[in-house]
Amino acid sequence: MFTEEKKKNTNYGSVFVYCFSCFVLVVGVVRFAKPYYNLQNLMETEAVIEERLLDMGKSGLLPCELRSSVPARNHHKLSQTVSEETRTRPPLSYCMQFESFSNLTNMVKNNGGKYESRPFSAGGYNWTLLIYPNANKPEGKNSYISLYVKIDNSSLITYQNEVYAWIKFLTYKSDKDTYYEFHATEAQRFHLFKQQYGVLEFRPIGYYTTTGYGYLFNGEQCAFGVDIVVSKPSAWEDASYEENIRDPILEWRITKFSAGDQVSYTSDTFSSGGRNWILKVYPNGVGSATGNSLSLYLLSASNQKGYVKAKFRVINQTPANNVEKQVEGWPNAQENGWGVDKLIPLADLKDTSKGFLVKDTVRFEVEILAFSRTDSISN
Ligand SMILES: *[C@@H]1O[C@H](CO)[C@@H](O)[C@H](O)[C@H]1NC(C)=O
Ligand SMILES: *[C@@H]1O[C@H](CO)[C@@H](O)[C@H](O)[C@H]1NC(C)=O
Ligand SMILES: *[C@@H]1O[C@H](CO)[C@@H](O)[C@H](O)[C@H]1NC(C)=O
Repeated sequence: MFTEEKKKNTNYGSVFVYCFSCFVLVVGVVRFAKPYYNLQNLMETEAVIEERLLDMGKSGLLPCELRSSVPARNHHKLSQTVSEETRTRPPLSYCMQFESFSNLTNMVKNNGGKYESRPFSAGGYNWTLLIYPNANKPEGKNSYISLYVKIDNSSLITYQNEVYAWIKFLTYKSDKDTYYEFHATEAQRFHLFKQQYGVLEFRPIGYYTTTGYGYLFNGEQCAFGVDIVVSKPSAWEDASYEENIRDPILEWRITKFSAGDQVSYTSDTFSSGGRNWILKVYPNGVGSATGNSLSLYLLSASNQKGYVKAKFRVINQTPANNVEKQVEGWPNAQENGWGVDKLIPLADLKDTSKGFLVKDTVRFEVEILAFSRTDSISN
């Protein structure tokens, strides 16, 4: 008996919980359905539906009927040109907070229905953010808040004729501590004949005149913002292959060669083909050449990389006996530019009878045959 009664009680309890859930569900549906009904004539703004779906999904109150009543195509259509998101990052460029939405509505009455922010700078230009909080807007539906950005036209006149910028409009949702974001996927073009860009139907005004949607906080406060990312023209380089170099031969002589006690020597700067070069010699070699051959390198004075074709020579007193090696390609020695590790065996160089070391002097020549030139152009 006792157990049975307890069971019965439990059943009553479940029934009660069940009915209460129904009540909550109905209240929920009514609560969310009301604005839905009010805004039915604005169905093309998929955002409205999207967002409430999200709200109800999270609160566990998503009724099947409402879900099925949302045509799927709306979402698809929307994602092609504009995108809506929820994010936690505050506006990048500017944010405006209003003490009271109803007072904002009053404030704009003598200003063509708009509130214009103070100028702010973004991407090297000055901008203002414009809010149309009520009916007196230039065109379009009256039940929406419109947001615009306007570029300071003096920048357009002074600097260049057009500016491309990605614009994202935002409003704060306090219930989730996030921002609702609306943006077109393409960058917008601003020029003298189009100094502002905006979204006419940003959010329904009802979201700000009634509490419960999360757009009002601390009483009647609300916040709007914008991200402006200006698209800068990209830097580019113009590459060319230079041949028939002007002043192609760099001549360098090292005197008192046998007295040298340094690992390496660098020349003064040479100019060849409109570019500055430096020669560097390791009298006793470097790397695998150390101790057996002399190494000679050509360096770009301005540390440019790229392709070089050059002949490296050690001059003999009998020109027919010059030692010559050709190098072609990108820098083949990280610190030393282009060059030859084993240009001439030290035994040959130091043997005065071979004709390279004359009066304790060695003469080098580097003949530049070609190189790639890149001019970088940045805006
Ligand atoms: C709105 O303006 C009225 C009158 O100007 C003022 O009394 C009231 O405090 C304001 N409301 C808020 C929330 O700032
Ligand atoms: C932006 O405004 C400031 C202050 O008015 C001005 O000094 C500055 O030159 C402006 N910048 C541009 C790019 O117009
Ligand atoms: C530039 O902007 C100012 C202020 O918005 C406006 O009065 C003026 O007519 C504009 N000038 C041009 C050339 O568009």
